[in-house]
Amino acid sequence: MGLSTPALEALCGNKPPKSYNKTVHSSFLKGFFFGAATSAHQVEGGNRNDWTEWEVGNADRLAAEAKKRSWPEFLLKNDPSPLQKENYISGKACDHYNRFEEDFDIAKKLGHNAHRFSIEWSRVEPLEGRFNEKELEHYRNVVHALRKRNLEPFVTLWHWTIPLWLKNKGGLESSEFQIYFSRYAEKVVGALGTDITFWITLNEPNALVRRAYIEGDWPPCKRSFLSAFRVLLYLARAHRAAYQIIHKHIPRAQVGWSSAVRYFKPARKNVLDYLSTMTARFWSEKFFLLLTRNENDYLAIQYYRKGEVQFPLRITDTGDLSDIGWAIHPEGLHFILKRLSRYKKPIYITENGLADARDAQRGEFIRNHLAWMKKAMDEGADVRGYFHWSLLDNFEWSSGFWPRFGLVEVNYKTFKRKIRPSALVYKSIIEKDLSSS
Ligand code: BGC
Repeated sequence: MGLSTPALEALCGNKPPKSYNKTVHSSFLKGFFFGAATSAHQVEGGNRNDWTEWEVGNADRLAAEAKKRSWPEFLLKNDPSPLQKENYISGKACDHYNRFEEDFDIAKKLGHNAHRFSIEWSRVEPLEGRFNEKELEHYRNVVHALRKRNLEPFVTLWHWTIPLWLKNKGGLESSEFQIYFSRYAEKVVGALGTDITFWITLNEPNALVRRAYIEGDWPPCKRSFLSAFRVLLYLARAHRAAYQIIHKHIPRAQVGWSSAVRYFKPARKNVLDYLSTMTARFWSEKFFLLLTRNENDYLAIQYYRKGEVQFPLRITDTGDLSDIGWAIHPEGLHFILKRLSRYKKPIYITENGLADARDAQRGEFIRNHLAWMKKAMDEGADVRGYFHWSLLDNFEWSSGFWPRFGLVEVNYKTFKRKIRPSALVYKSIIEKDLSSS
C-alpha cells in the first residue's frame, strides 16, 4: 500500500500529528525487524580498553570545559551532570553486563523482535592471542537470552574500542590490524555458533576516523589525513577478511558494516556550497563502500541528522535540535534511502535516535522517521529492519552520560530502568504493523 499525500503531510509536516495514522503503516514486509541497538562499551560497565584509559586521563579537562559553556537547567539536573568529572568516566555504565536478561525482557515487552549489540574485543582477548573462554561464554549467554525471547541477534564485532595490547601496538594504525581482527573474528564466530545470521563487522568507520584521526578529539586524538587514510584502508581490509571468515563458518550469513550517514544540503545556492555538499556526501555515503564493494551482503545505515554545508566544509545544524544540538530531519532518511537504493542491496537502519532527556520529542521523532522510511519502501527501497538508538540511556563517548538516548531511562546510581513514554509509541507502531502483516 502506498502512502497518500495528505497522510504523509500529516505525518511529516511542520505540525506533527496527534496520533499515528494506521493507514500509512499497514504494509511493512513480513519478517521486518523492529528493535533497538546498544554497544558494549556504552552499556556493559567494567571494561578495560583504550577508551577507559582515555576517559580517566581526560575527565577533569572535559568537566572543566563544560563549565565554560552555558547549559539549560534541565540538563544540569542530569545525574551525573555535564559539569561533574564522573560524567566522563564509563565505570559501571548501565551494568548491562550483569543485567542483560532484565534488559531483554524490557525489549520483548516493548514489542521488539530483534536486537543489535556488540562484542567487547578487550574482554574476549584481554592479552594478545589469549582468548578468555569465560567471556566468550558470556556472549553465548547473551545470544541465548535473545533467542529465548525471539529477538533476532544482530552482532557487531567492533564498535570502536580496542584492547590495550593492541593500542600499544599502534591500534588501528598497526599494519597488522587485519591479522589481529581476523583472529578475533574467527574466534568469536566459532564460539557464538552458526545460528547467527546477521553480522556487522565494523561500526561507522567513517565517523570514528573523522573524530579520532582528523578532528582529533577522540582517542588516539590525531590530526593527520595520512593516518586517517591509512586507518580506513586497514579497516576496509579487516572488514573484507572478516566477511570471508564469517561466510566460511556460516554460508548463509548476512554480513555488512554500518555507515554514519547524514542528510547534507548546501547552505546557500552557490556552486561552492554545492561542491562541498557533494564532497560531504561522498565521504559519508560512498568512500568506504568503494573500498568494500564486493564484500557487503547488505547496507547498514545509521541516520541521525541534517547538516547544511558551506564552502569549504563548514557543516551546521539548523532547525529543530536535539539536546546535543543535532538537527532533526526525518525527510532526510527518505532521501538517503532513495539514494542508496541504487546499489540494489537490502538495507537495514541499524541506528536512528536522538538525545532527549525530557522525552519531549522522541515519540514524534520515531513516528516521523518511520513514516519517511515507509515512503521510501513504497517507492522501492528494500529496507528490512529498523533499530532505534538506543534501548537504554548510555555512555555517549566523550560527552559522557548526560545525553539521554534511551527508550528506557537508566538511573546511574541505582541502575533502575524506567520505560519512557516514547518507547510505547514505538511499541504501538510495531504492534499495529505486526498484527497487519
Ligand atoms: C554511534 C553510537 C553513538 C550514537 C549517538 C552513533 O554514531 O554508533 O555509538 O552513541 O551515534 O552519538
